[in-house]
Amino acid sequence: MPKLGVNIDHVATVRQARKTFEPDPVWAAMKAELGGADQITVHLREDRRHIQDRDLRLLKETVHVKLNLECACEKEMLDIACEVKPQRVCLVPEKREEVTTEGGLDVAANFDRVQSAVKQLHDAGIFVSLFIDPDAAQIEASKSLAVEAVELHTGTYANAKSDQAQHSELLVLQKASEVVLTHDLLLHAGHGLNYQNVIPVAQIDGMEELNIGHSIIARSIFVGLEDAVAEMKALCS
Ligand code: PXP
Repeated sequence: MPKLGVNIDHVATVRQARKTFEPDPVWAAMKAELGGADQITVHLREDRRHIQDRDLRLLKETVHVKLNLECACEKEMLDIACEVKPQRVCLVPEKREEVTTEGGLDVAANFDRVQSAVKQLHDAGIFVSLFIDPDAAQIEASKSLAVEAVELHTGTYANAKSDQAQHSELLVLQKASEVVLTHDLLLHAGHGLNYQNVIPVAQIDGMEELNIGHSIIARSIFVGLEDAVAEMKALCS
């Protein structure tokens, strides 16, 4: 059964809409933990559109499960990560104008940059995963960087417009997952997963962790965060 990382960025999105103090992602993390989250995930973006530096620092103090920081391979972010020391960092690509993370990190094309980021994080004792497309070349490049895990981007699967297209994207994810496991990397996945599409991904052999944000926070508006997390956790199992 994969572990569930709950991404609470969009709690901060609502707060930042008014630049006020509520809802506080620190409260959200507590509710997510009560609902059964195995990990709290946040993305500190360069433009600080949702999670703020203060959130990350407080979450490091208050989260009792693992804290997973998503960030770009930028000096500012890496220095913050090494200072705050979340248990895990997932390196992601980041474009200022994007609505959400579009596509995986091109590890093969940015090898030296990613290598130096991984080294800095490893020197600080941080577990590193790379958010990549389900593609053998990216998995092999990740393996050669000696990271602990890769998170396969499930966005193309999640956005597929027909059952047939979704099925063929699931096959892509299954094939990539086999390559990940052959290389002795931990297998994570995420992006666009929701209550309707999560089960086939959770059932992939060797799936160790799913990171899910938007759908859980959206449901929490109606049922509360603790229940929204518990429902997702039940689907993952
Ligand atoms: N994993 C990674 C690396 C991400 O960047 C995101 C989005 O921040 C997610 C998972 C969660 O995606 P979603 O909000 O679509 O569930």
